[in-house]
Amino acid sequence: MARILITSALPYINGIKHLGNLAGSMLPADAYARFQRARGNETLYICATDEHGTPAELAAAAAGQDVATYCAEQHELQKTIGAAYGLSFDWFGRSSSPQNRELTQHFAHVLLEKGLIEPRTDKMIYSNADGRFLPDRYVEGICPVCSFPRARGDQCDNCGSLLDPVDLIEPYSTISGSRDLEVRDTRHLYLRQTALADTIRAWVDSKTEWPALTKSIAYKHLDEGLIDRGVTRDLSWGVPVAYEGVPLPGFETKVFYVWFDAPIEYIGATAEWAAATGNDWRSWWRTDEGAGDVRYVQLMGKDNVAFHSVSFPATLLGSGEPWKTVDMLKSFNWLNWYGGKFSTSQNRGVFMDQALELLPADAWRWYLLANSPEGSDTAFTWEQFATAVNKDLADVLGNFVNRILKFCETRLGGVVPEGGEAGPRELQLYADIGKSVAELNANLEAIEIRKSAQAVRALWVLGNEYLAEAAPWTAMKTDPVRAGVIVRTALNLTALFARVSSPFIPFAAETIGTALGQHEKSWPGEDIAAELNRLTPGAAVRTPEVLFRKIDDVQLAEWGERFGGAEA
Ligand code: MF3
Ligand code: ZN
Repeated sequence: MARILITSALPYINGIKHLGNLAGSMLPADAYARFQRARGNETLYICATDEHGTPAELAAAAAGQDVATYCAEQHELQKTIGAAYGLSFDWFGRSSSPQNRELTQHFAHVLLEKGLIEPRTDKMIYSNADGRFLPDRYVEGICPVCSFPRARGDQCDNCGSLLDPVDLIEPYSTISGSRDLEVRDTRHLYLRQTALADTIRAWVDSKTEWPALTKSIAYKHLDEGLIDRGVTRDLSWGVPVAYEGVPLPGFETKVFYVWFDAPIEYIGATAEWAAATGNDWRSWWRTDEGAGDVRYVQLMGKDNVAFHSVSFPATLLGSGEPWKTVDMLKSFNWLNWYGGKFSTSQNRGVFMDQALELLPADAWRWYLLANSPEGSDTAFTWEQFATAVNKDLADVLGNFVNRILKFCETRLGGVVPEGGEAGPRELQLYADIGKSVAELNANLEAIEIRKSAQAVRALWVLGNEYLAEAAPWTAMKTDPVRAGVIVRTALNLTALFARVSSPFIPFAAETIGTALGQHEKSWPGEDIAAELNRLTPGAAVRTPEVLFRKIDDVQLAEWGERFGGAEA
């Protein structure tokens, strides 16, 4: 049994996430976690809300709440919505937790002692109108790299460049809109990434299994040359710059930069989980305390890769302590909304709460996984969504399940038929299913999400083909024993489908399993003949409620109207 640690990028606290966020980190991480658990591996899937920094402060201000209250409320909201999508976090923590504060302060202290973090006098933008410094997103202006007119102080949303607020052209305050800004001296702590560049490059070089997208982003940053990054800010909300309760002199009014403490919360949230459940977090994170045999997998959108392939490793490796670092860093391109981007600020696209008003979670899960933005950016369209639901879920899987269970109920008394032997068609089926399951396993193991979904769909198709060819309704007339074998086989197939579909559509998988009286949650093994003869002959089964309702044209028109579509 392997031990597998899975983290998905921590969603910002500032509001409910849109489907693009879900598709590019949490959902594939959940599918992978469910697969690993079913396989019997010791699996820990950790996520949390990313609660510090200017995004949190700005969102709280916009909501007219103090930031602590805002974060507490939004955390609960995101947790509830995550559960509604079946996201099976072992822990959904908060980067504002005491555990994260302590760990963040620990890392900063160790790095300071080693001279890898050092105080420097720095030039920062000060707003006379606001009477304060304007870090990161408190200032916007023209991107010095691509001339995008509304680049944020920390990063340009258009070209992805990481920025320093003082580099912005024609900057203005996002608090007041004031352009009465000046550059003032202030003291900050700097993480000396330049001093760690060789260490990080060697570490990246060793990550031979990273996908091309991840590697290319990591090397882009390494090749451009790492810069020393400020890891403190003139803000009040965040992790105080202190150690063991004592503020660092000169830093009493400052906090750590959100991107310094956020990834540390992967560890912090594990510690939160351990505290709440009586487990040990160090065996997952300290290679000297058992984490040596952990396989650590991170999932995130491509905009997060630089922070996870360079900055966070700089913290972990720079400490010189035996921390577990990521093994597999799986990154995703964008899920776009038609031609453009999902946009929280412009309210374009569908958000996680709204989506569930339209259709159940499994419909969204299936669409988003089957169309995972892996190879390139992918555009959401209502038509594609309708195809995924109507064809894959309703026609291919739903029909199969419904047909066989109905037939069994009306013609065979609603019990798993007894007697008869598997014939050549069944043996062929075992071989075909075995091949597809092996393909599915390989793709899931490699976190090839689209290919995994295709492999599951291929299994459903095999079921339909078998049923159409074996035609138990015809056999029933001439050879009831043969019909019984077919129905028993098809019922077993249905049960197998529930198991292998559970990473993708866990709610439907549960419904199907219950209808068959099957409580087997484990992943099918290699002996497919045995897997397709698991249901006890004579046991009762029943037809479930309609598994997937089809989307009709009226709904499509309505949703296009409500959320915008092509014209967006
Ligand atoms: N909150 C960031 C985002 O949504 C991701 C942070 S990942 C972390 O882009 F690990 F660093 F927290
Ligand atoms: Zn730019």
